[in-house]
Amino acid sequence: MTARTIDGKALAARIHAGIARRVKSLQDRGVTPGLAVVLVGDDPASAIYVRNKVRACEAVGIRSFLVQLADNTSRATLLGRVAELNADPGVHGILVQLPLPRHLDAREIVDAIAFDKDVDGLHATNAGLTLLGRPRSRSCTPYGVMMMLESIPYPVQGCDAVLIGRSNMVGKPMAMLLLAANATVTMCHSATRDLAAVTRQADVLVAAAGRRNLVTADMIKPGAVVIDVGTNRTPEGKLCGDVDFAEVREIAGWISPVPGGVGPMTVAMLLVNTVEAAERSIGTSPQGPWLAESDPSAAVAAPR
Ligand code: GUN
Repeated sequence: MTARTIDGKALAARIHAGIARRVKSLQDRGVTPGLAVVLVGDDPASAIYVRNKVRACEAVGIRSFLVQLADNTSRATLLGRVAELNADPGVHGILVQLPLPRHLDAREIVDAIAFDKDVDGLHATNAGLTLLGRPRSRSCTPYGVMMMLESIPYPVQGCDAVLIGRSNMVGKPMAMLLLAANATVTMCHSATRDLAAVTRQADVLVAAAGRRNLVTADMIKPGAVVIDVGTNRTPEGKLCGDVDFAEVREIAGWISPVPGGVGPMTVAMLLVNTVEAAERSIGTSPQGPWLAESDPSAAVAAPR
């Protein structure tokens, strides 16, 4: 049986529509949500990601502030710019695009962002709150994956979830969000002895290792949900994930494609975090990614 596709692009579009309505409601109360995106250096992949984020903001009415800094920007200059953005009342969210040039310490820079403006969920306080099971800004990619899982009729509660990758941005917060959803979570990484033996136990497999074709059909439990977080390139330069999509889809029950899977959801959740930061700034309780009218289980999975 061929797996059903989890269409991240369609799901993200629905979230964007809800966000646009919330932006309008904030504007009616005199607040336009603002997101500052800081890009240091000229990494071409980062430039593309940043452009996508800025465009997504524009499409839903969020004001974006692009701060572009040279590759040799000093620590003091960057910390100074972050401090200015922290103090700017028109900026509700701040994102420093990673990776940073090697002379800059990403941990120090991210922790210099006011934690209530950290819409990436990477600040030590937000990471800690996620660990404690009371998240505020959730890390965007794992948050997007959770939305994808919620969008399909597959119970995460009680399932065996296996993650490949233990990064601070994806693997670790992903484990915490799955745990909070009552999955039994196993994390695999570069020192895992028998990766396939572990992944074959997975009801839900999240691949975030950054290695093309790492996940093959023999590693999949029949009917499993496979979420591909990888962003790699084929030798021809085409975007691809960590999963061998063509063969794994013959075994899995559900699968997310690359492109069109997790990528658009990461951007959508950034918009959610930004609007929620703006809502909190005027004392409104954030509603989460869904508006009351929307049903996440409806019509988001593309037909086979
Ligand atoms: N680089 C790649 N993905 C991301 C992301 O989600 N946030 C930041 N800040 N940098 C990234």
